[in-house]
Amino acid sequence: MIKIKIAPSILAADFSKMGETVKQLQECGADLVHCDVMDGNFVPPITFGAQMVKQIRPLTALPLDCHLMTLHPQTHLEDFVKAGADVISVHVEACGKDTVPLMREIKKCGVKASAVVNPETPIEELFDCVGEADMLLVMSVHPGWGGQKFIPETLEKLEKLRTFCIKCGRGELDIQVDGGVTLENASEIKAAGANVLVAGSTVFRAPDMRAVIASLRGE
Ligand code: DX5
Ligand code: ZN
Repeated sequence: MIKIKIAPSILAADFSKMGETVKQLQECGADLVHCDVMDGNFVPPITFGAQMVKQIRPLTALPLDCHLMTLHPQTHLEDFVKAGADVISVHVEACGKDTVPLMREIKKCGVKASAVVNPETPIEELFDCVGEADMLLVMSVHPGWGGQKFIPETLEKLEKLRTFCIKCGRGELDIQVDGGVTLENASEIKAAGANVLVAGSTVFRAPDMRAVIASLRGE
């Protein structure tokens, strides 16, 4: 059985208490810390960059999962590697034909590589990445903001991707879903083939973070 992992997105956290929050996530059973990097170009908002990753790095043993919503991810690759990123996800909409070579470069730096597709991008765009990927990410909302509603068509994309991975002999590959994940839809998302669930609002708006992480996982 493939392991279900929960990746709370610190985008939904209180930025003035980030250090405490990151420590708490580990105590509450999170599997990864999802860091949403936005550059004001690939997506309208600007969030934070490698410096945030560097500063939270010593505060947790959890892997730092860096989702780069940036137009030129290769430009900042070295900074994120040095900052201590464990996983780096790059958008095929930003990298085009350079996605697979960039993933190879990420892996050469000793960091796990992942590619992402937006809701309007066909899932087939990720197929070339399956051989190289340590993880693949399917956006279930339009990138840029937390707190949006899950786009139901994502379920079919997840099914197609999991089926393709199995066909390629990579049935165990981590498939991450990002956006609008709730306690209500987590089961169908997992049934569709995702095993790494990003959750921002659901985790940070909950009165009991430990309980909500366990429920998302299905415990
Ligand atoms: C959206 C980000 C997501 C976002 C998820 O651009 O990539 O990671 O924080 O937030 P929720 O879980 O609130 O939809
Ligand atoms: Zn994200």
